Amino acid sequence: MEVVVVDDANAVAKIAAERITRVITEKPYAVLGLATGSSPLLTYATLIEKYRQNEISFEHVTSFNLDEYIGIAQNNPQSYRYFMDKHLFSNINILPENTYLPVCKVKERPEQIGACYEKAIENAGGIDIQLLGIGANGHIGFNEPVSSLSSRTRVKTLTEQTINDNARLFAYDEYQPHLAMTMGIGTIMDSKRVVLIATGKKKASAIKAAIEGPISAMHPASVLQMHQHTSFIIDESAASELAHVKYYKWCFAEDQKLKKP
Ligand code: GLP
Repeated sequence: MEVVVVDDANAVAKIAAERITRVITEKPYAVLGLATGSSPLLTYATLIEKYRQNEISFEHVTSFNLDEYIGIAQNNPQSYRYFMDKHLFSNINILPENTYLPVCKVKERPEQIGACYEKAIENAGGIDIQLLGIGANGHIGFNEPVSSLSSRTRVKTLTEQTINDNARLFAYDEYQPHLAMTMGIGTIMDSKRVVLIATGKKKASAIKAAIEGPISAMHPASVLQMHQHTSFIIDESAASELAHVKYYKWCFAEDQKLKKP
């Protein structure tokens, strides 16, 4: 497990975008696992900039998003499809047919949709790099506390805390879904690499529990301690409750030296 602590959100985005760029450069047909929320916005802006500068092409890339709300249409500005189109897909050369989200319409059978999503990921060759944010309660994707640590893509009911945290994004009279289809924790753990990004004081206790706490279904992100290639890329504020920041910084500095030609 790698813990990278940097000054601010711009530095977090720079490193996260570099990690994704490296994967695509080594493997042009890479499969990306993508996230929504405010955390990845700067990373997406950085990737768009790299695309504009011809540093990277998404021509052969496939993407799978972590989650999608149930009960709102894909053209609704609150849908994660809309978010992804707006903040990433429409600004790069990824083929729309290569971008997947776990969409489950109200009358569809979620078990079937979940199984198909899992199959589609498998058929694409598995996820090469999964980008994650983290909820204040430790959720990843929409895997809320007490989600099975080996769960697969399925429906989850959101907790009151998550609904309240995300309420800032909805107008007062706007419908806010409380159900979502999400990749499972087992699905995320199957990714070849995981990059979790977090910034700001509000994420500090979730980050502390994820990195230095016990592995527990009560704090889903803590399961990443079991993943061989996980990087937490966080700013000083999100790292403020960690006990071993000095050591993590030292490790990162040593790692940089090893990578020098
Ligand atoms: C949402 C998403 C998560 C995201 C989390 C944190 O509930 N389903 O994928 O990581 O919230 O969001 P933010 O980055 O806005 O803090």
